[in-house]
Amino acid sequence: MPPYVIRLAQDEDRYPLAYLFAAVAEERDGIATEPPVDIDARAARWTLDETIVAESAAEIIGSIHVGGGGGHGFGELGMMVAAGWRGRGVGSELLFAAIESARAKGLHKLSLSVFSHNAAGIALYRKFGFVEEGRRVKQFRRQSGELWDAVDMGLLL
Ligand SMILES: CC(C)(COP(=O)(O)OP(=O)(O)OC[C@H]1O[C@@H](n2cnc3c(N)ncnc32)[C@H](O)[C@@H]1OP(=O)(O)O)[C@@H](O)C(=O)NCCC(=O)NCCS
Repeated sequence: MPPYVIRLAQDEDRYPLAYLFAAVAEERDGIATEPPVDIDARAARWTLDETIVAESAAEIIGSIHVGGGGGHGFGELGMMVAAGWRGRGVGSELLFAAIESARAKGLHKLSLSVFSHNAAGIALYRKFGFVEEGRRVKQFRRQSGELWDAVDMGLLL
């Protein structure tokens, strides 16, 4: 695989991020959003100063977003890696950078919610010290009609 860099998101990443998000939504597996994704709306919506991206050969191959906890000291994390790049450490590099950035900003905790079947996600978060704090049973109704559990995880920084 070609090399990649981890960096802060910038304005020209908006559409590449939106297209990556739409592709991951098409999988109907890892993230809550399912198709259709409104690309223009999604591109406009990124909070760039809360987003770190992985870029390879001028393509966005992954991202991590840490949203503010309304001034309460925690950050809510969401992330994705392009399907062809998974299992190669990109998610780990993104999460490492997000944890460092959260510490530098003075947050005391990172939180996230992950589907209970998402073995790769849960393994990644555990690897960085996140612990399971609870389970929201049949929380997400999917377009298929299935009801999926979400596991809440947290990392004290
Ligand atoms: C979850 C996700 C971000 C992980 O990204 P990634 O780049 O594949 O992660 P890494 O390659 O750094 O792997 C991290 C760890 O996860 C584990 N892992 C990776 N793929 C795995 C798999 N298929 N099954 C079980 N564990 C797996 C490994 O323990 C790995 O650490 P190690 O290689 O040091 O042992 C990626 O799979 C993804 O984008 N999925 C779709 C969207 C999604 O689920 N987002 C998260 C929503 S909460």
